[in-house]
Amino acid sequence: MEEVLTVKANINENDLKALNSSFDNDYLGTWANLAKENIFFKETFNEILDESDKPHYKWFLGGKTNISYNCLDVHLKDKANKTALIFEDELGEAQTLTYKELHEKVVKFSAYLRDLGIRKGDRICIYMSLCPESIIAIQACLRIGAIHSVVFAGFSAHALRDRINELEAKLLITQNAFIRRNKKVELFKFAREALTENQSVTDLILFDRVTGDTELDEDTNALKKSLDIKIHKPIQDLLADKYADIQNLTTLEPEWLESNETSFILYTSGSTGKPKGIEHGTSGYILWAKLSTNWVFDLKDEDVYWCTADIGWITGHTYVTYGPLANGATQVIYEGAPNFPDKNQFWNLIEKYKVSIFYTAPTAIRAFEQWGLEHIEKHDLSSLRLLGSVGEPIGSETWKWFYENIGKSKCPIVDTWWQTETGGIMISTLPGVQTAKPGIAGPALPGIHAEISEDSLLHISKPWPSMLKGIYKNPERYKKAYWSLIEDSYLPGDLATIDEDSYICIGGRNDDVINISGHRLGTAEIETALAKHVSVLESAVVAIPHKIKGQGLVCFVVSNNNSGDLSNLLTAHIASEIGAHAKPERVIACAALPKTRSGKVMRRLLQDLAQGKDISGDISTLEDKSVLEAIKSRI
Ligand code: WT7
Repeated sequence: MEEVLTVKANINENDLKALNSSFDNDYLGTWANLAKENIFFKETFNEILDESDKPHYKWFLGGKTNISYNCLDVHLKDKANKTALIFEDELGEAQTLTYKELHEKVVKFSAYLRDLGIRKGDRICIYMSLCPESIIAIQACLRIGAIHSVVFAGFSAHALRDRINELEAKLLITQNAFIRRNKKVELFKFAREALTENQSVTDLILFDRVTGDTELDEDTNALKKSLDIKIHKPIQDLLADKYADIQNLTTLEPEWLESNETSFILYTSGSTGKPKGIEHGTSGYILWAKLSTNWVFDLKDEDVYWCTADIGWITGHTYVTYGPLANGATQVIYEGAPNFPDKNQFWNLIEKYKVSIFYTAPTAIRAFEQWGLEHIEKHDLSSLRLLGSVGEPIGSETWKWFYENIGKSKCPIVDTWWQTETGGIMISTLPGVQTAKPGIAGPALPGIHAEISEDSLLHISKPWPSMLKGIYKNPERYKKAYWSLIEDSYLPGDLATIDEDSYICIGGRNDDVINISGHRLGTAEIETALAKHVSVLESAVVAIPHKIKGQGLVCFVVSNNNSGDLSNLLTAHIASEIGAHAKPERVIACAALPKTRSGKVMRRLLQDLAQGKDISGDISTLEDKSVLEAIKSRI
């Protein structure tokens, strides 16, 4: 039913055939050629893939490059005056930056970081909203070889503190506040709280994103006094005579990193209580960020690309901060929520900036559908030519709604499957060649060996350039989590099926990871958070289907608190331990959890109960059947 692209696509049928046969004939040689053609190496690599320490595979060994150089400097000759970023916030403040302007700001900020004593390998936490300053900060870290770790601005002070501590970060870059859903989110306040048990942070960089708010300024000043680390304000500092040298800087020689040196660490949830610090390297990562953006989104020089992901997640890294810039694209970035100032906001922006490629998440699409067509129909969306979906299964109904109502039945949809660990898209149709099947992601991209085992486990049977380096400070967990089930194959943790056209349909997870609005959360992580509360003796967290968010959480809690206020108390507690996105749909107090004789919680039963279903399957291993009846009476 879906059309393939009518304009000449970056990858057409012949290109695809040629690419696939090249990979079949010489897998490593093909990657090496792609790397040489697409990435600027200061020093070329001397080995394509080193497998000696697998699964810590090393790509393009000995090559020296810099990601920021490949995102910015490479465009200064031909695209200096092309718009790189078009930014808007909820209040309608707009800003555009050309490649030349963005490069200059990154150069100055890099010099500023160096002046603060930041060096290659230092870890820097970035706790900011999606705005030009956060992208500049990330690019500057890359330029000087400092390892950045972005902590999503929706994460709580506790979550930020845990990440800072594990990383032993030296610097925290944050902002006074930003406006989201018409409310002030005071990031500096959370940052201040996160630094209470801080051992490592010596300096904090503070951007004043919100100005002219005296109350906020007073709060910020008071908090600043209570901190015994150095606080720097680059916007004000860089105007001072002391920084005259930096004010005039227009270039800065980047730190040339070996291909496998770490560029960033991004935390994601797994099946234990503690999030994993996913570590990405340099050359292989930027190669795939650049290529996959070009192939999947079919980026052309005249396109206006908009990916709605936040920089706090991997999509906001690969397909906002790196891929589009490496391709010299013009992109829109928006700081606010889709329904503020009102539900027309996204369509206003698409119409205003003539967005041609729009990449978003099923949760957002389901919300648009619920908000109604009246918001969409009054806008001219004819600039759109390609749509994308990411983060969770889109399902055929939502797919069709997106295709018909946003794409007006003329834009292909790319349903892209990938994860934090894979660095870039692994499975998707290519819009110029392959017709999408609604609700099914598509074939593996050229060069990616995705396979499905007999028991439906999706796995990648050959290493690929943008694969994670490992889990920060935890090589054992890396091996166990991803490489222990099928020999020499990477296991993402998803279940899938494959059809006769080699299209892969993703069918949920194989572990206790749940997906709320496209955000990954481990049930064990929520249980660990709950266990920290004095009222909680024991808990079990399960997922239920949710109309908008895809999945929602239900927490079964054995508590010593019968006050009736337990639900509010624990919901607030989870928000403070993790972040508001982890808030449960329901907290159900119960006298005991259903367990096997060996003491294992029978989640399957709780899952049924949480969905209001009759208990299905075998309950013969259940130790005390009365427990189920007692819980039922609470639902
Ligand atoms: C998990 C990865 C990929 C960037 C955003 C999330 C699920 C991702 C799809 C898709 C069905 C998907 C998988 C995956 N997922 N994309 N197109 N269809 N499921 O990154 O937080 O690392 O989560 O999201 O379960 O493993 P992440």
